[in-house]
Amino acid sequence: MKKITLEILMILKNTVMKLNENTVFDCSMINISEISSKSGNITVLENGKDIPFDVKRIYYLYDIPSGECRGGHAHYQLEQYIFAASGSFNVVVNDGVNKKNFFLNRPNKGLHIVPGLWRELVDFSSGSICMVLASHKYDESDYVRNFSKFLKLKT
Ligand code: TYD
Repeated sequence: MKKITLEILMILKNTVMKLNENTVFDCSMINISEISSKSGNITVLENGKDIPFDVKRIYYLYDIPSGECRGGHAHYQLEQYIFAASGSFNVVVNDGVNKKNFFLNRPNKGLHIVPGLWRELVDFSSGSICMVLASHKYDESDYVRNFSKFLKLKT
């Protein structure tokens, strides 16, 4: 009973909630400083200092088979900072009108993705690792996983 009530509440929330009106031009590359020495580099990320949201969750994608695509969804509220901890990949963001491609290949140069945008992660190099810092804990009801629904919500 409790589960059904929660599911109904999630459906209602998604029906009522508007997708953010952000465009692809609201996404930006953020460079984090690098401390270099002859023995290598170190990059430090601190909440409230380096990226424009508090980090509530970190996850990473790895062992991605050649030619695979990740993402393929939008978020109502979630903001993310994405970077290549190793290797490289492309992030294609789409606001329903414009598309923009960001090539990520350095651990200290990441992409800030604002809410309300469709994103696809493609062209992973062999052995690449995609690190994601997220503004909220995991919540499936924050996802829009259907592209037609996404387009409807953006108009
Ligand atoms: P998904 O967000 O669709 O992955 P991607 O955008 O990288 O393609 O998530 C894949 C699966 O992992 C899905 O079943 C949900 C689950 N998942 C969690 O349980 N917690 C999380 O924090 C994330 C990001 C995903």
